[in-house]
Amino acid sequence: MCGIVGLVGREAASPRLLEALRRLEYRGYDSAGIATLVNGHIERRRAEGKLRNLADVLERQPLAGTTGIGHTRWATHGAPTERNAHPHGTARVSVVHNGIIENYAELRAELESQGVGFETETDTETVAKLLDHLLAQGATPEQAVSATLKKIHGAFGLAMIFAGHGRKLIAARQGSPLAVGYGEGEMFVGSDALALSPMTRRIAYLEEGDWVVLSDSEARFFDAEDRPVSREVKLTAYSGAAVGKGNYRHFMEKELHEHPVVLGDTLRQHIDPATRAVALPPLPFDPAAVPKITFSACGSAYLAAQVGRYWIEQVARIPVDSDVASELRYRDPPLPEGGAALLVSQSGETADTLAALRLLRKRGQHVLSVVNVAESTMDRESDGTLLTIAGPEIGVASTKAFTAQLAVLAALALGFGRARGTLSAAEEARLTAALLEVPGHAATLLEGGEEIQALAAEVALARDVLFLGRGSLYPIALEGALKLKELSYIHAEGYAAGEMKHGPIALIDQDVPVIALCPSGPLFEKTASNLQEAAARGGRIMAFTDAAGAPALRRFAERVVTLPTVDPFVAPILHAIPVQLLAYHVAVLKGTDVDQPRNLAKAVTVE
Ligand code: F6R
Repeated sequence: MCGIVGLVGREAASPRLLEALRRLEYRGYDSAGIATLVNGHIERRRAEGKLRNLADVLERQPLAGTTGIGHTRWATHGAPTERNAHPHGTARVSVVHNGIIENYAELRAELESQGVGFETETDTETVAKLLDHLLAQGATPEQAVSATLKKIHGAFGLAMIFAGHGRKLIAARQGSPLAVGYGEGEMFVGSDALALSPMTRRIAYLEEGDWVVLSDSEARFFDAEDRPVSREVKLTAYSGAAVGKGNYRHFMEKELHEHPVVLGDTLRQHIDPATRAVALPPLPFDPAAVPKITFSACGSAYLAAQVGRYWIEQVARIPVDSDVASELRYRDPPLPEGGAALLVSQSGETADTLAALRLLRKRGQHVLSVVNVAESTMDRESDGTLLTIAGPEIGVASTKAFTAQLAVLAALALGFGRARGTLSAAEEARLTAALLEVPGHAATLLEGGEEIQALAAEVALARDVLFLGRGSLYPIALEGALKLKELSYIHAEGYAAGEMKHGPIALIDQDVPVIALCPSGPLFEKTASNLQEAAARGGRIMAFTDAAGAPALRRFAERVVTLPTVDPFVAPILHAIPVQLLAYHVAVLKGTDVDQPRNLAKAVTVE
């Protein structure tokens, strides 16, 4: 899973490729590389680690040429070393690749039996060697690509340049998105339109199985059967402006502080502040009649969906099923004809979620997606999309996009409740009012923060941490644990508070902080009892609550952080922010790479 870019340009290619790769670094940052055509020959530069290492290499050893390809890698096959970094190739061809070639081992064995040697452990090198083999036998680049595409299986995006064939670039798509950009006397290709936005806003997307031949003046598209096809050119909304950190130390810190604006913008999209009524766009199914909703997503987006599940079941009384996308297809649940599928994703490109989307559609479900990136593959493949208005999220760990997902799902639950008659107009007005107050509460919460910093100083010393919550706060406990793990590398687990006594309580001792999400409301007493059970066994309770809950918890908790008092319906949104802040501060104290934690990527485009 990686970012790929290529261009047949009029200016020096390598600075432009590098800039495009900066915009694709969210797809992986294990290693990076560039190859260009210099006087008909292929030259390349590669570096292990972050893109700045490649920039250093290019400074020491500049790369000429106006046609080239670039790659930023998230290792799948082979360690993240310079040797395994893309582009891969031979003197005849150079290849960058996103995705996985599933049958690479047999293809490699076949080539090796014919005397072809390999230098790396990557699946990508097999594509390069297959192409090279065919080119050596006299095939044209087009013939070699067409034949190679018929041999390789899996999900991939490819961009390739060829020595001795003029300024030509060929790209191919199978399950992994690719955008072609149209310039003035130059052409581009990239994993997304954002990467190409400094160079052009005129974009056409490859469809499944397509491949495209780029020259400096045209793009010739072919489908999987090699038939010439045309693909519509559209104007993308992306601007070429670079996204900066402003005065913040990290993108994550900046994005945390964008919460009030993002929540306000997202809620106003779906709630009319004047009438306090939910105003949803036309949906691909009738919520009053839909027999069942199936949620699917990955990681934090899945946890947002879990909160959505609580809300929709409670408010609209619609049966909801949910599963992480990587499991849904294998569980293969029975689905009613005419049911709804609800996919949640920041990037709109997560391969597992996309696979779930396609499966759910095939099984007769009407597909609605909640995504942050307009024009993403999920946006384009869904029957309807509700956008979160979070803006670009650069920090790899989801923050504002997660709470924006919650905001959309809360509005959706209320809209469904009204459509089904399970929510009165008065209740709707009360709950939308509570939702519209969330941005203001988020601002208050972000202004304070000293208590959370003090808590972070203690958590940073721990080896293991437990997060507990009940009801709609349970997924937020899971989110707190996920965020802490991925940012600070501290082992953390989230549990339903009532489940703790069935096993996890064995872990409780002085060294394991227990972070409790315990707002006042119908579940407060029960959660507080579970916390007391832990405290009675020497557990150190650190609780997030509100003014009404604080006195009771202070009797046994070591620390109590008091959040603004809100309706229990919106408490998950408000509790998500301090758990994100906690993970952020712990990571800063531990000196980890906050914006690009090890082994992760912002958009996981392999299954
Ligand atoms: C965690 C995180 C990931 C993503 C997950 C899904 O902080 O960011 O768990 O939520 O990879 O990504 P999207 O939302 O792009 O589908």
